[in-house]
Amino acid sequence: MDKLIISGPCTLSGNVRISRAKNAYLPILAAVLLSDKPIHLKNIPELQDIKTMIKLLSNLGVKVTKNGDITTFDAKDLNSHEATYDLVKTMRASIFVLGPLLARLGKAKVSLPGGCAIGTRPIDLHLTNLEKLGCEITLNAGYVEAHVAKMQPTSLRLDFPSVGATENLIMASVFADGTTTIENAALEPEIDDLANFLNAMGAKVTGIGTQKIQITGVKSFNEVTYEAIGDRIEASTYLMAALATGSDITIEGVQSKHLQFVIDVLRKMGAKIETTDDRIMVFKSDLKGCQVDTAPFPGFPTDAQAQLIALCTQVKGISVITENIFENRFMHVPELIRLGADITLKGKIAVIEGGMPLTAAPIMCTDLRASAALIIAALATKGDTELQRVYHLDRGYEKLEEKFSKLGAKIKRVKE
Ligand code: UD1
Repeated sequence: MDKLIISGPCTLSGNVRISRAKNAYLPILAAVLLSDKPIHLKNIPELQDIKTMIKLLSNLGVKVTKNGDITTFDAKDLNSHEATYDLVKTMRASIFVLGPLLARLGKAKVSLPGGCAIGTRPIDLHLTNLEKLGCEITLNAGYVEAHVAKMQPTSLRLDFPSVGATENLIMASVFADGTTTIENAALEPEIDDLANFLNAMGAKVTGIGTQKIQITGVKSFNEVTYEAIGDRIEASTYLMAALATGSDITIEGVQSKHLQFVIDVLRKMGAKIETTDDRIMVFKSDLKGCQVDTAPFPGFPTDAQAQLIALCTQVKGISVITENIFENRFMHVPELIRLGADITLKGKIAVIEGGMPLTAAPIMCTDLRASAALIIAALATKGDTELQRVYHLDRGYEKLEEKFSKLGAKIKRVKE
């Protein structure tokens, strides 16, 4: 297993270009299954989760070819409707193929994603609402087995604005004979991106960016070329890394409005941040503690909570961070404490007494965003911090060492 050695503390400078969003491309890749026409996707990030999704598509019969920064998908001849356990167990987002397979083939067999390091993460909202659309679903030997003769458009209301359920239900409804409404839909920018992609192929999705999304069925799709939005969580990570190390950097290739809440929180802490539509400039700032609750978009993203805690360890004063989305998302905390951070956990609340100097120690990545937090802390820590199990980072951060090295960090990968 690879390790990262980060020699700190360091100051970052220069520009970093953000990759296209993993969480936008995962549902878009699943949506490839809907079309019998070629789909050309630009700048798909080279990440483990993306490779897993592409492998899943290939297993279902999708032909994939790469030419420079364009990857072409041809799902004309699907030869399977089954997403097997060996792939699904490595990535919960595999559940995204359920809606498209039902819409295209009328049947799907998808392994249950099972538990996950950051909580139980059920899929009840996906399944109960697919049933309302007329799908018959059974759970059998660890698999969701579903079929539908004809999707029945109806009005759906989500009990919680689940990102994945909203995306699955949009995809399931694109060929239904009539209009499906999803109320209390999630508002995350990646959902708008999926809807824009589907509309570019000829779908009729309206209410994009609102909590009431309407999908009017169409008969077929067209060939399309599309590029997903920039990754707002990757951008948030670089933003917080810069602030934690007292650095001036410019972040490019992401729509700053997608990080508005994060930027507002950081500015309230004293961060000097300037933005244009697609660029964020952050400057060395004198920060104070914060009180932040994670919430569905447009609130503070749970995917940036770990990174914020790492930043708070570097800020004088007390910070109080409440995790409201996932029940077990503080696995970075014991690792940060190993570096000398003063953090107390009380249920879903983390209290951080910041400003204590951190000292290098071997630490372990436990999930994707927890690992990002450890990188931020290690950049601010004196000495050589050894990060183990970096395969978690490879799931979601493209060219991480290259990007941080270009900004001036001393970071190297050791293969074992
Ligand atoms: C997506 C993101 C993930 C992010 C999360 C919340 C992708 C690939 N992943 O995950 O990075 O952390 O949104 O912003 O886009 N829930 C249920 N029943 C369901 C579905 C969800 O109870 O059927 C609960 C979950 O357990 C969790 C909460 O709803 O507590 C949010 O989950 P959801 O919005 O569905 O997240 P994901 O789509 O899994």
